[in-house]
Amino acid sequence: MKDKFQEIIKKATIDIENVQSFHELNNLKSRFTGKKSEIKDFMKYLSSMTPEERPAFGKMVNDTLEEIGKLLEEAEQRLQENDYEKTIKSSQFDYTMPGRPVLRGGKHPLTLVQEQIEDVMISMGFQVAEGFDIEDDYHNFDALNTPKDHPSRNLADTFYVVKNHDEDLLLRTHTSPAQIRVMEKYKPPIKIISPGRAYRNDKFDPTHSPVFHQCEGLVVDEGISFKDLRDTIDILLKKMFGKGCKSRFRPHFFPFTEPSAEVDVSCFNCAGKGCSTCKNSGWIELFGAGMVHPNVFDMVGIDSEKYTGFAFGCGIDRIAMLKFHIPDIRMLFENDIRFLQQFTFSR
Ligand code: DAH
Repeated sequence: MKDKFQEIIKKATIDIENVQSFHELNNLKSRFTGKKSEIKDFMKYLSSMTPEERPAFGKMVNDTLEEIGKLLEEAEQRLQENDYEKTIKSSQFDYTMPGRPVLRGGKHPLTLVQEQIEDVMISMGFQVAEGFDIEDDYHNFDALNTPKDHPSRNLADTFYVVKNHDEDLLLRTHTSPAQIRVMEKYKPPIKIISPGRAYRNDKFDPTHSPVFHQCEGLVVDEGISFKDLRDTIDILLKKMFGKGCKSRFRPHFFPFTEPSAEVDVSCFNCAGKGCSTCKNSGWIELFGAGMVHPNVFDMVGIDSEKYTGFAFGCGIDRIAMLKFHIPDIRMLFENDIRFLQQFTFSR
């Protein structure tokens, strides 16, 4: 019996060694190891064997199948390698040619600035809140203490999505409604920023775009003072523009803050000496800010006797333009890959 098995292995070895195609290999596989193979056929002798003879016989069958299996595997590998070489040889492709350069993606300058603001503010314990691009006029104006006859409500300044007497929907004209959304939902202490898009009916020119980006900030708690506002903005500016950067607060008016201020930063281009970036003033206006107006607290049901707060808003596009010396805001929206490839940030 043993000789029979040896003979099969010998036959298989010769045939498998000469195999030229996967098709032939498959045929050999079923011929030597398939259900109808000679070896499997031997199983019929099992029934005529004594129980003592059976294990040795079974082992022989298995060993033979295993050995042929190995030969088949080696042949398959050999065919695969040949196949690959043939493809390469027959192809017209010049494998020595250098590859085409792959364009690496980079972050948009607005994303870089927004992320930097977020990093600094998160490090001071702020959370990032999201607002809605489409707002109702209550959140965009009324709840922010903006009078009904305020010029910013004008159709010429605001994009209205729906305008009728019951409900006005609009593209938010600033990120400030995010303050209201947060105060409606959460009780003080509140410490958030909310970056996002804002829309105004401005014609495109080098410094205006009908869609632009702002970052809102809001802190509400007991005992929050104007000094906290000054310190927070000072830290943000120093982290963004360097330790030597100074800020100055000028009195201003916003309906939703009292007192209100505009915040200028010392020109980081000329360090305050005067240049074209700062129009020779040495200062660049970057923020609107102030102490949350008690009327705003009343609108959202926060006790204005107990709590005080500060808020601020800054233009992300403007910061990006100044930081990266981008002369025209439209470049931020044209998605020209040659422009976008230039920006990386060293933190
Ligand atoms: N929303 C104002 C604007 O778009 C900017 C602003 C000013 C935001 C004062 C504030 C603030 O939160 O307190 O011009």
